[in-house]
Amino acid sequence: MLTKQTIDIIKSTVPVLEKYGVDITKHFYKRMLENHPELKNVFNQTNQREGRQPQALAASVYAAAANIDNLDAILPVVHLIAHKHRALGILPEHYPIVGENLLAAIKEVLGDAATDEIIDAWKDAYGVIADVFIQVEEELYQQAEANGGWRLFKPFKVVKKEQENELITSFYLEPEDGKALPPYQPGQYITVKVKAPGEEYTALRHYTVSQAPKGNIYRISVKREAENNPKGVVSNYLHDDVEEGSTIEVSAPAGLFTLQQNENPVLFVAGGIGVTPLYAMLDSMEAGREVVFIQSVRNEKLAVFQEQIQKKLAELNGTYFAKYSDEEGHLTKDDLAKFIKENTEVYICGPEAFMEALIPAVRELGVPDDRIHFEFFGPGFSFKA
Ligand code: HEM
Repeated sequence: MLTKQTIDIIKSTVPVLEKYGVDITKHFYKRMLENHPELKNVFNQTNQREGRQPQALAASVYAAAANIDNLDAILPVVHLIAHKHRALGILPEHYPIVGENLLAAIKEVLGDAATDEIIDAWKDAYGVIADVFIQVEEELYQQAEANGGWRLFKPFKVVKKEQENELITSFYLEPEDGKALPPYQPGQYITVKVKAPGEEYTALRHYTVSQAPKGNIYRISVKREAENNPKGVVSNYLHDDVEEGSTIEVSAPAGLFTLQQNENPVLFVAGGIGVTPLYAMLDSMEAGREVVFIQSVRNEKLAVFQEQIQKKLAELNGTYFAKYSDEEGHLTKDDLAKFIKENTEVYICGPEAFMEALIPAVRELGVPDDRIHFEFFGPGFSFKA
């Protein structure tokens, strides 16, 4: 239990830490990876260079601290992050490392303003927040292990590699131990762990399972991130070096972006490679529920799974609408308005700018937050998302 004095100190210093957030974050990450280079096997070095992930992490610690006297309020977000952590193999022993380096960074940046009293209060608060994460994550590890599942990573064989279009390739993965895959929800992701040639550390990336559960296979569909600077280490490795017969390490599925089981009409809104979880959900649907699938993509050639989506929609009596931004511009609120009815549940997935434009548009069209479901790709996410 934290004392009232500690809680008061935390609440009054959160704004200061937020103000110096970027500086503290930079120090924190640099220190932590210098002291614990083994963590370079875990953190996405590409995102880290862009500085976004450590900011998401530190911002979440402050946001959690702002709710330190009512942590129940942030449990839904803790669960989202905990799913990611579990799929990355984050363990209780990692928490003191983050805590120690974050506190040291706070001290470095704030100097004398960070009195012993303040630092002690933050130490106590971080301990409480870390315990919440550790407990939620342990429950998720136990769920992952249930029904013949596994805790961290296990080897899978690539049994099929299929080029979908000039940018996207699907990989069909089967467990090497031959054990049956435990049940999972369409829309969930797995983490792959690879060591690309010439790289000193392993890299972990989440990829959505891109079809409904079928046989003893996970299918992932990977977009080659060739235009980014730096280039996507993992996506290029998968495209160029991983072949049928190759082995990669895979986590059990995780994530909370899944189809609500009710009678409401469904509107899927997919931007680019954000189609993967939405197609998996569609693929799992049975006739009887109204469904519309909107696919927004640069041009028809890049409209991955278009045929499969249309085929499934034909079975379900659903509607397909594509918009090609090269020719027709981006998806607009007016486009969406045509397909939103009373009780429609909207599922949106795509790049950040896509989500930032369309989630408010859906709200303006009168859809309440509990019927808007979305998943951000990448690490731009914090308690404030
Ligand atoms: C209370 C402490 C922590 C908080 C509040 C926190 C928060 C977060 C948040 C907000 C994200 C981004 C989630 C997303 O991308 O959707 C994240 C991702 C991540 N966290 Fe944590 N985290 C904490 C502790 C840790 C610890 C102890 C480790 C391991 C040393 C860790 C490793 C990671 C990694 C590797 C990612 C993914 C980043 C990447 O893209 O490489 N976190 N965390």
